Amino acid sequence: MKRRSQRLVVLMASMNWCLVAFASAEDKQPPKTGASGNSISGCMTTACHGANIASDAPIWQRAGSIWFDQDPHAQAYTSLQNDLSKNIVWRMTKREMVVSSSEYNAFLENKCVSCHASELAPVSKRNLGGDCQICHGSADAWDDIHFSKEWQSLGATRFEDRKMVNVESIALRAAVCSSCHVGELSRIAGRDREVDHQLMASGHPPMYFDFELFSRRYPKHWETKDELAQYGKSSRLRSWRIGKLQASIARLKMLTARAEKAQQSDSIHDWPELTEYSCTNCHHALEQPSWRQAKGAKASYEWDSWCTSLLREAIGENASVAISNQLEELKKEMERISPSAYAVQSKSERVRKLLEMELKIVIDTNQWPDADLTSRLEELLKAEPTLSSWESAAQWYILTESIAEGLKMDVSKNRFSKLTEEKFFSPPKTWLRNDESTRPNSSGFRPGLLSEYSKTLFQELRTRP
Ligand code: HEC
Ligand code: HEC
Ligand code: HEC
Ligand code: HEC
Repeated sequence: MKRRSQRLVVLMASMNWCLVAFASAEDKQPPKTGASGNSISGCMTTACHGANIASDAPIWQRAGSIWFDQDPHAQAYTSLQNDLSKNIVWRMTKREMVVSSSEYNAFLENKCVSCHASELAPVSKRNLGGDCQICHGSADAWDDIHFSKEWQSLGATRFEDRKMVNVESIALRAAVCSSCHVGELSRIAGRDREVDHQLMASGHPPMYFDFELFSRRYPKHWETKDELAQYGKSSRLRSWRIGKLQASIARLKMLTARAEKAQQSDSIHDWPELTEYSCTNCHHALEQPSWRQAKGAKASYEWDSWCTSLLREAIGENASVAISNQLEELKKEMERISPSAYAVQSKSERVRKLLEMELKIVIDTNQWPDADLTSRLEELLKAEPTLSSWESAAQWYILTESIAEGLKMDVSKNRFSKLTEEKFFSPPKTWLRNDESTRPNSSGFRPGLLSEYSKTLFQELRTRP
C-alpha cells in the first residue's frame, strides 16, 4: 500500500475535501454542492460520500472513500508522471522534457488527459485523475435535488434532462466505459480519446477491454444485489452481451471516423490504422514449432479479433445472419492489402446501425432460461474456439467462464493446471522490445492450454442432474 500513501501526500496538497472529509464525523449536515464549480469537493464530506471506508456507514456514504482508496481511475493522472509515461512522451516527441514542466503538462493536456482525468474538473484538480464525473456526469448537476426522496422515487426518468449519467443502466454504463477503454473520436477539439499504434509503439499498454471482465475487476462502491436478483443466472451473460455490443459499436464508430479522416487526408501513413488489426498477427515470437503454423491459424493479418469476435453470440438469433453477413463484408474489405476508406466508412456505419438496433432487443430481454444457458455453453465448449489468434481465444474464454459461473460451476483458475493468469489470460501490459518482462503473453500461448478446461466443463455439463 506504499503507492497509496505516497499518493495521499501528493493529493493532500490539491484537495480541500480531504481535510473536510476526515476532520469531523459529527458533521452531519449535507453541504451545498456545486459551490466549487465542476469539482467533486462537495461530494466527499463524511456526511455525503466520504465516510470512513472501514466504518459501518452504508455503502453510498463510503463510495467516495472506496474510489479514493481503491479505484484505478483515482490514480490515472498520477500515472502520467511515472517513468513509463515519461518514456512514452519522450518517444512520441523525441524531446527530453522534465516531468511536470509546463511543456510536459501541455503535451499531456493534448494527448492523454481526455482519458486520464476528468475533463469536467478544473485544470487545477487534474491530480484527482478520473473522478466521479467521468462516470456520473457533471458534479454541478448532482446538486441538492439528489438528496430528496421525491427525486429518488422517480426511477430511471430522474436522470433525464439533467447532466447526470444514469450508470444504473448497464447499457449506458458500458457506453461510458467504452468511450475511454475502446476510444471515441470526433469529440470536441483536443478531446479525442484514442490510443493508436503510434502511442502503443511508444509504450502505452494495449487496450484489451472487455466490459464484463473489467466490471468484475473493478472495485465496486455500490450494492450489486439488485442485478443478481433481477437477472439471476443469466446476469453475467447479459452484461457480457450488452458490453460486447457497446464495445463493438464504439469500435465501429472509431473505424468510421478514421475512414472519414483518411479520405480527407493526403497522407497514406494513417490508413489503415494498425491497431484495427490483431496485434498478435504481426507481433509474435519467432519460434519453432509455433502454434501459428497449425491448421486454422491465419497467415495474413486479421481485422479486430477482440471486440467483434464472438459477436454472433451477443446478438439475437433472428438478426444474426444479416449482421454476420455485413460484418463479414467489412472484415473482407479491411483485410484487403489496401482497403478502400470510402467502402469501409459506409460498411462500418451500416453494421453499427444494425448493432444499435440489436442492443435495444438485448436490453429488453429480461431472463434467459437455465436450459438455454446450459445448451449454449455446451455448444461453445464442443466447438472449441476458432483459434486464429490469442485475442479470439481469450474472448472465447471470457464468454464461457461468464456462463459457467452463472451456472454455479467452479471455474477458478487453480482448478485447471495449465490455465494460469500469467501464461494465458492476463493481457500484456506493454510490448516494448527492450523490456523482456513484458513480452506479449501470446508468445506463451498454446491453443492446448484451453483443452483441459473445455473438456472438464463439457463433461460436467453432460453429467449434471
Ligand atoms: C475517462 C476515461 C475512463 C472511463 C470513463 C472509464 N475508465 Fe477505466 N480506466 C481509464 C484509465 C485511463 C485507466 C488506467 C488508470 C491508470 O492506471 O493510470 C483505467 C483503468 C481501469 C481499470 C484497471 C485496469 C486493469 O488493467 O486492471 C479497470 C478495471 C477499469 N478502468 C474499469 C472501468 C469501468 C468498468 C468503467 C466504466 C464503469 C471505466 N473503467 C470507465 C479510463 C477510463
Ligand atoms: C483513449 C484513452 C486514453 C488515452 C488518450 C491515453 N490513455 Fe493511457 N490508458 C488508458 C487506459 C484505458 C489504460 C488502462 C489500460 C488497461 O489496463 O486496460 C491506460 C493505461 C496507461 C498507463 C499504464 C498505467 C499503469 O501504471 O498501469 C500509462 C503509463 C498510460 N496509460 C499513459 C498514457 C499517456 C502518457 C498518454 C498520453 C500520451 C495516454 N496514456 C493516453 C487510456 C488512455
Ligand atoms: C468508473 C466509473 C465510476 C466512477 C469513477 C465513480 N462511480 Fe460511482 N458508480 C458507478 C457505477 C457503475 C455505479 C452503479 C450504479 C448503480 O447501480 O447504482 C455507481 C454507484 C454509485 C453510488 C450508489 C451506491 C449505492 O449502491 O447506493 C454512489 C453514491 C456513487 N457511485 C458515488 C460515486 C462518487 C462519490 C464517486 C467519486 C468519488 C464515484 N461514484 C465515482 C461508476 C463510477
Ligand atoms: C500490420 C502489422 C502490425 C499490427 C497489426 C500491429 N503492429 Fe505494432 N508494429 C508493427 C511494426 C511494423 C512495428 C515497427 C515500426 C514501428 O515502430 O511503427 C511495430 C512496432 C510496435 C511496437 C514497438 C516495439 C518496439 O520495441 O520498438 C509496439 C509496442 C507495438 N508495435 C505494439 C502493437 C500492439 C499493442 C498492437 C495491437 C493493438 C500492434 N502493435 C499491432 C506492426 C504491427
